[in-house]
Amino acid sequence: MNEPVSGIATPQSRPVPVRSSPSTGAPETGEPILVLRGGGVAVVVHLPDDGLPEVLHWGRDLGELTGADLAGLRSARARPVSPSALDDPWPLTLLPGEHDGWEGRPGFAAHRAGRIEHPRWTVAEAAAKPESLQVRAVAEGLALDIELVLDDAGVLRLHHELQNTAAGPLALTGLETVLPVGDRAGEVLDFTGRWTRERAPQRRPLAQGSHVRETRRGRTGHDAPFVLALGTPGFSTSTGEVWAVHLAWSGDAVYRHDALPEAKPLIGAGPLLRAGEIELAPGESFRTPAGVFVWSDTGTDGLGARLHRSLRSRAAHPRTPRPVVLNTWEAVYFQHDLGRLASLADTAASIGVERFVLDDGWFKGRRDDSAGLGDWTVDTGVWPEGLHPIADKVRSLGMQFGLWFEPEMVNPDSDLARAHPEWLLQPLDAGIRTWRGQYVLNVAHPDAFDYLLDAIGALVAEYRLDYIKWDQNRDLIEAVHDGRANVHRHTEAVYRLLDRLRADHPGLEIESCASGGARIDLGVLERTDRVWASDTNDPIERLAIQRWTELLLPLELIGSHIGPPVAHTTHRAASLDFRIATALFGHAGIEWDITSCTPSELEQLRAGINAYRRLRGLLHTGTLTHSETGDDGATATAVTNEDRSCAVVRLARHATASRALAPMLRVPGLDPNGRYRVAPVEELTVPRGLDDSPPPWLATGLVLPGSVLAEVGVQPPLLAPGEALVLELTRDA
Ligand code: DGJ
Repeated sequence: MNEPVSGIATPQSRPVPVRSSPSTGAPETGEPILVLRGGGVAVVVHLPDDGLPEVLHWGRDLGELTGADLAGLRSARARPVSPSALDDPWPLTLLPGEHDGWEGRPGFAAHRAGRIEHPRWTVAEAAAKPESLQVRAVAEGLALDIELVLDDAGVLRLHHELQNTAAGPLALTGLETVLPVGDRAGEVLDFTGRWTRERAPQRRPLAQGSHVRETRRGRTGHDAPFVLALGTPGFSTSTGEVWAVHLAWSGDAVYRHDALPEAKPLIGAGPLLRAGEIELAPGESFRTPAGVFVWSDTGTDGLGARLHRSLRSRAAHPRTPRPVVLNTWEAVYFQHDLGRLASLADTAASIGVERFVLDDGWFKGRRDDSAGLGDWTVDTGVWPEGLHPIADKVRSLGMQFGLWFEPEMVNPDSDLARAHPEWLLQPLDAGIRTWRGQYVLNVAHPDAFDYLLDAIGALVAEYRLDYIKWDQNRDLIEAVHDGRANVHRHTEAVYRLLDRLRADHPGLEIESCASGGARIDLGVLERTDRVWASDTNDPIERLAIQRWTELLLPLELIGSHIGPPVAHTTHRAASLDFRIATALFGHAGIEWDITSCTPSELEQLRAGINAYRRLRGLLHTGTLTHSETGDDGATATAVTNEDRSCAVVRLARHATASRALAPMLRVPGLDPNGRYRVAPVEELTVPRGLDDSPPPWLATGLVLPGSVLAEVGVQPPLLAPGEALVLELTRDA
């Protein structure tokens, strides 16, 4: 529990101590009402004498409130008894259940040998700080620790930890974090997708009922709900109130929103627990991943701004300049050959690449994707001297060296699968379907865990790896161990493995990749340094994928590479200018056989890398906004630094414009009283555009007040699909 902070008096009548500072007792009942405040957000929580805490408000900060104000707030929210309903008013608690009177999806579901649990909770203890609240509630045979932490960015992390305090086992099938949202919410946004098309938004009116999205892929998934948001009707990139939830978890999940006729809407999320998956022995506990709740009154960009600020405040957030990456995958695939890779490294270093990552294909038996996974030793047929020649070469060129792994997977054609069939995550008496020719290793098996830790750790040490690209290329189905569903334990074990490797090898960076972007969540990001957003390097597809990945993650965490001229995943051609402009807004890299480039292509790549290296300080710390362009065929993305002295704006066109005159390009977030020099980023090519003569300022630059840039904007050229204009705005001294 938190350090108790003295504050409100504990009512004499109350059987349990409630220790808190930022709260007051409601005079008429003496029941404490606590306020968490941070980053312009307030969460007001009422602790009743009987039952679980109830959130009275989650949203805009309400300022300093007195005890009388809080009591008034509670009275104002007191609900009448509806017609044809329970005879008494009932509370919408932090873990709503039938005993409360809640008839939507319960927050908690458990049984003991088929006998359903309907706990009668009472708060036993609570401790609060201005930014956090911890509550222990008890019921017969159960104890529940609820933890709410509101950070300076206004992001609330909510956990439940349930303990079985009875003498017999408890089968837990649901424990979810939920919060009520404003009943003015009228629209829903969440996400779906598939391989090479991750995080596609879906928008719909809020309908009545308990609506549940389950993910049962054993990983976060290409089609993950990602962020579930309820907003006021018409909420947009920059306007409207929005309440959102994300589950910091890489296993199966439930995202839910409930709009029942008799209650305020709820949103929430929790781990998806299959029958028999979590059985708590006497004394055992289960802790949920964090439900990450964000409110904004400036649309989805407001959500993103809070989330980015919150992530950037983490102690382990990557703060060193994000190095330019060369990843070998689309350059050579499985054709590992020292001469070829050494010349790739030479070319990479010559244009300013800073990190060379050897992708799939280096380990025993891995000549294609049908064999080898699990055998984490270097293939001596291909690499007779181990990886030292390439690692030394890369280092001698001044670059970092990174290596690809897919630790959780095993090919049937591998020494590991032959030696340890009992380590596979599948029913013992029957095989499961393969996916990319592979099975899953049960990382929760202690021997499998130790094997991976030792094998990977040895390679990290031997080659002094700076970076691991940690891949995961299949969904988990029938992920059963000893007859029990095992996704949850497996996912926790993967987290432990990542944590151990990072602890054992300080400075090692890890990328979360899963068939592209199928494992992007704040659980894996607690132990990794960036994500691979997608396997598509087609810039048109990437613009859409990155645009919404940016809702959760700041640019420095999103791997974004310049691919070959014709994208391998879509067969669509794109200019190098456009590919550079797309990769610039992320943790940039290259994934292309650049030994085949012409001198002018190399020159252009060098210039693009120079632009990235010059601007990454701004791109990776600034505030990100997505402007409404008034044009379905174009997107405008801007990053402004903290003191608003400079900004970078990218206008990118993916489809033709509906009008011959492009809409004005407006740049929000600048100092309205500052004057800004506006000019194309000098290292990048200005696109030709479709106008017979381009807007004159493009050649000369322009100086404009921030207020004019925000409200009037500048006339951009009419870009052709597949063109991007990247501008730099610098405040005049
Ligand atoms: C899937 C990843 O997303 C790719 O980038 C690449 O690493 C391949 N796996 C290698 O098998």
